[in-house]
Amino acid sequence: MDFDAFLLDHASCERKASAMALSMVSHYPDRVVLVQEMMVLAREELEHFHQMLWLTQAKGLTLLPAEKDLYVQTMLKEIRRGPDEYFLDRLLVAGIIETRGCERFGMVAEALPPGALQEFYRHITRAESQHGTLFYRLAKLYFDGAEAAERQ
Ligand SMILES: [Fe+2]
Ligand SMILES: [Fe+2]
Repeated sequence: MDFDAFLLDHASCERKASAMALSMVSHYPDRVVLVQEMMVLAREELEHFHQMLWLTQAKGLTLLPAEKDLYVQTMLKEIRRGPDEYFLDRLLVAGIIETRGCERFGMVAEALPPGALQEFYRHITRAESQHGTLFYRLAKLYFDGAEAAERQ
């Protein structure tokens, strides 16, 4: 109904995804695999944000100010206290957010008419499909697989 609003929200999501990956690096600097994976992710999400910046500016749109997302805030409330519980839940919540984002972009890609924008959203969907599984893989690396699966 309001595709410009969707594009601006998407741009914000990419910026937040990059910032979230960097916050994992600053929070857990001693976890070598996590740091490597989050650096790759932060750069990829930043690239997506840059692409969204070009796309929205080309349409004459202005980025939205940083705002908390009710959906994400609600998910974050489910994160438990305690160092291990907090870390596991952060990974799983990030995995859910990425998986949901991928589904959303996939639906947009299929709803768009053939053309450059549809190709762009297909590309974004393929890229995002790796991110949910990345976080689930990290959860299984740092935690007992059964514990991660049960919490998930
Ligand atoms: Fe992204
Ligand atoms: Fe992502």
